[in-house]
Amino acid sequence: MKVQTIVPRVKRLIHPIKTYQDDFTRWLGFCNAGMLHPGNTYCFDYVIRNLSSDAPIMEIGAFCGLSTNMICYFMRKYKKKNIFYSVDAWDYDPDNTQ
Ligand SMILES: C[S@@+](CC[C@H](N)C(=O)[O-])C[C@H]1O[C@@H](n2cnc3c(N)ncnc32)[C@H](O)[C@@H]1O
Repeated sequence: MKVQTIVPRVKRLIHPIKTYQDDFTRWLGFCNAGMLHPGNTYCFDYVIRNLSSDAPIMEIGAFCGLSTNMICYFMRKYKKKNIFYSVDAWDYDPDNTQ
């Protein structure tokens, strides 16, 4: 076995990643392109469950909407009515240096 394979496995044993999974999040992760780390769903669940404000929620960096849909899912699950904005620059031109 290569060291590149062993190191992440050992890291996970030492610091297991907290995550949140149910049928919906598993299906969403399967069919919605994205770059979500498994720990992000744990954080979304925790933060939205404990949200104590009606202030708008702002996501910067939606990419293909995986995190956006996850956030909407937890808002619905925990009956949060906050306005939710999501934006992305969607500029993946490597020659654009601005
Ligand atoms: C790691 S990806 C986000 C992954 C996404 N949240 C998901 O669930 O798959 C980072 C995104 O942030 C966007 N981004 C980076 N800087 C930005 C900025 N200043 N304003 C808006 N979007 C930005 C990029 O275009 C990219 O799509």
